Amino acid sequence: MNYKHAYHAGNFADVVKHTLLIQLLNQFSQKGKPYYVLDAYAGKGLYKLNSHEAKATHEAKSGVELLVEHYTNDNTNAPKTVKQYLQTLEQAKKTYDKHVYVGSPWWIAHEVEFQAKNNIAIRAEAFESQAEEYDALNYQLYKLPIGCHHRDAFEGLTAVIPPKERRGLILLDPPFEQEHKDFTRLVDLLVKSHKKWQQGTYVLWYPLKNHEAVTLFHKKMKRTGIKKQLICELNVYPNDVPVGMNGTGLLVINPPWKFDIFAKEILKYLQPILKAKDAPKMKDDEAFRVQWLVGE
Ligand SMILES: C[S@@+](CC[C@H](N)C(=O)[O-])C[C@H]1O[C@@H](n2cnc3c(N)ncnc32)[C@H](O)[C@@H]1O
Repeated sequence: MNYKHAYHAGNFADVVKHTLLIQLLNQFSQKGKPYYVLDAYAGKGLYKLNSHEAKATHEAKSGVELLVEHYTNDNTNAPKTVKQYLQTLEQAKKTYDKHVYVGSPWWIAHEVEFQAKNNIAIRAEAFESQAEEYDALNYQLYKLPIGCHHRDAFEGLTAVIPPKERRGLILLDPPFEQEHKDFTRLVDLLVKSHKKWQQGTYVLWYPLKNHEAVTLFHKKMKRTGIKKQLICELNVYPNDVPVGMNGTGLLVINPPWKFDIFAKEILKYLQPILKAKDAPKMKDDEAFRVQWLVGE
C-alpha cells in the first residue's frame, strides 16, 4: 500500500464526503444524547494545499478551491451545512495555516469539542494502518478529542462494536487501490459488522470510476438483506467518459431520519459547482442521486 491522501486532499470527493459527514454529525448531535464515532480509515487529519503532493495533482483546484471561489462571489442558496463546512474551514485556516485542508478525523474531533460545550458526550476514535500516516495523524491531532490508533479497519472495526453508547456512526473511507477486490472485502466487512451491531450507522465512501464495479457492488449490497441502505452519488463527468474518477459515492446504512432530504439539497447545490467544465451535459439523475438501495 502506498496510498497518500495528501495527493487528493480537498478534491471534489472530499468536499462531498466532508459536507455529508457534517450533516450526519449534526443530526446525531441534535438528539442531545451520547454517541460514538469511528473513523476507520483516518488518513493524517491535516493537509497543506501548497505541499509538493498537492501541487503534483492540483486536485483541490477542482474541489474545495472551486467551491470557496463560487461561495465568495455568490453565497445565495447555499444549504446551511455547506455554509457550516466553509465557515469552519475558514476558522481552521486561522488556527493552522491559510493553506490547510482538514480531513475527516479533524471534522469529527471538531464536533466532539463543539458539543462538549452543550454537554453532549461524543466518544471518537480513528484507525490508520500505515505507520507514517498514523504518526502524522497522532502528532497533528494530539490535542484534539479523538483517540488515534495504529490499527487495521478489517481487524479493528468488529472488535470495537457495539459501542457502550449504543448509538453511533462508523465512517469507512478506504483508498480503493484494487477496486473489485476492495468492494468484495468491504461488503463482507459491512455484513460482519452489521451482524454484531444492527443499529449502527455505517457510511462507506466509494469512487465512481468503474461503472460495472459500482453496479455489482450495489447488487451485492442489496443481496445482503441489510435494510435501510441509502446511496448518495455525485458525478463530475458522466459515467461513460474515460477519466480518472467520474464521481463520488457514499453508501449510508441506517441514516438518521430525513438525512436523505438534506443530502439531496446538498448534492443539488454542489453538483453544478463541482462538475468538470468540459463535461458533457448530464441529466439530473445522472448528475447526482440520493436513492434508497434498500428501504425499511
Ligand atoms: C482516503 S484516505 C482517508 C481520508 C480521510 N478519511 C479523510 O476524509 O480525510 C484512506 C486512508 O486509509 C488508510 N488505510 C488503508 N487501508 C487501511 C486499513 N485496512 N485500515 C485502516 N486504515 C487503512 C490509508 O493509509 C489512508 O491514509
